Amino acid sequence: MYLNGNFPVLTAEEAASFIHHNDLVAFSGFSPAGAAKVVPSAIASRAKELHQKGEAFKIRVLTGASSSNAIDKDLVEADAVSWRAPYQGVSAIRQRINAQDVEYIDMHLSAVPQTVDAGFFGKVNVAVIEATEITADGRVYLTTSIGASPTFLKCADKVIIEINSYHSPRLREMADISIMPPPPRRNPIPIFETMTRIGWPYATVDPSKVLGVVLTDKPDEVMDFNLPDDVSKKIAGHVVDFLVKELRLRSKTQRLYPFQAGVGNVANAVLSALGENEAIPPFYMYTEVMQDAMVDLMLEGKLLGASACSLTVTAEKLKQIVSHMDLFGSHVVLRPQEFSNHPGIIRRLGVIALNTALEVDIYGNANSSHIYGTDVLNGIGGSGEFTRNAYLSVLMTPSTAKNDKISAIVPMCPHVDNNEHSVQVIVTEQGLADLRGLGPAHRAEVLIETCAHPKYRDYLYQYVKDSRKGHIRHNLEKCFELHRNLMHTGQMLP
Ligand code: COA
Repeated sequence: MYLNGNFPVLTAEEAASFIHHNDLVAFSGFSPAGAAKVVPSAIASRAKELHQKGEAFKIRVLTGASSSNAIDKDLVEADAVSWRAPYQGVSAIRQRINAQDVEYIDMHLSAVPQTVDAGFFGKVNVAVIEATEITADGRVYLTTSIGASPTFLKCADKVIIEINSYHSPRLREMADISIMPPPPRRNPIPIFETMTRIGWPYATVDPSKVLGVVLTDKPDEVMDFNLPDDVSKKIAGHVVDFLVKELRLRSKTQRLYPFQAGVGNVANAVLSALGENEAIPPFYMYTEVMQDAMVDLMLEGKLLGASACSLTVTAEKLKQIVSHMDLFGSHVVLRPQEFSNHPGIIRRLGVIALNTALEVDIYGNANSSHIYGTDVLNGIGGSGEFTRNAYLSVLMTPSTAKNDKISAIVPMCPHVDNNEHSVQVIVTEQGLADLRGLGPAHRAEVLIETCAHPKYRDYLYQYVKDSRKGHIRHNLEKCFELHRNLMHTGQMLP
């Protein structure tokens, strides 16, 4: 039975009518998981009607991380978005951001709740939050993600709850929710192990702010992963071989520290490879999103427990989770993003971070977000807080893109989000460069030799040779020659 605390039941259209031009609207969701489902589309329809009447209507859109098509496509195509934070992954909004039609704040995800609470984005006018239940006294049981919803519920002036009966009320068994108190008197966060719980299974809201509930019955829009291709499998193979060696060399307990894995096909391939390799003992994950491969690993007993912020899994995997809730409810903890991605906890637990970059330079500076340094793809997401604070930070990328026309190993990245001071290991399908303890000259040598595609190695060696000597060798006349070639001719090398 789905309860709504006797709040008024609204249609999506009635809910949308509470939203006004220039409002800052916070939607639940961390990835498509747990995203508000029907109110965003109703706001899009309202925007179209108002535009037809010649009235201005655009809102500022805040979510936990990336979101759904309802938010980043429908609203955008209705020309209803003026501003967006903190991360996106949908081509409709990406195009508008890169055309400077939508202002985009690309930021570290753990900082979102504090930024909102401090009022740096201004007042949150309305929060639209998906839940399985709200009680009359304001307990809100969230669905497949926690994200920043607890803070949105706390800070918003008005709140609309989408009660989604598609989702099992048992999802709450995974939730561990609390809100960080404001600085400067923050006590240490008592998460000393991956699975420690410190909060409650629900978020809270002042019931007087709740405008009403909207009833829905819709799945999350999580896409299927592609089967790993050869390149992803080779990258995964190098990562797993490296971790097996690390384990033999350094681990006294024969236990690996918890993993974090970024999103996408490469990360999924690495997780599967970790599961298949018998030399890798069962492990924990302290990560951002729980994805499909992790469900299989948990059922097989290879993944002992996972802390995450969302269940970004396909409908089939979500059914598996719900039908094995006795297992998953006690082996998965879903936390708000200020805890799942907290720099101090990542450092404390010794997380091994596995993320993906678009390109890296010969010294280990990486670009995970901006093609040509200008066009955003998704954003930095959680990669910054994990890479910067990990015990071991690994960045992965295919050595080339677009049929070898683009090299992922370049003299200098036109945008750097994860820099050489944090990145320790770079992996392509060509090989793995362990940069720990290596100075810049040595790093360049190892990176070119092991990670660059053979087609680009001579160019990169020559670049280093022709560069001005210093602690880091660079040639400012030529450092972006490959990128300039790409922009002018469609390929990096003639
Ligand atoms: N220059 C130009 N284009 C490039 C490129 C480069 N160096 N490298 C890749 N591309 C293109 C690809 O060809 C592809 O184009 P297409 O969509 O036209 O086919 C596109 O960029 C995406 O590349 P792909 O290799 O498919 O990326 P991915 O899905 O593996 O994602 C990132 C890689 C870096 C974009 C993604 O991991 C990301 O957004 N990372 C930052 C956030 C993050 O790490 N979050 C998790 C942390 S917890």
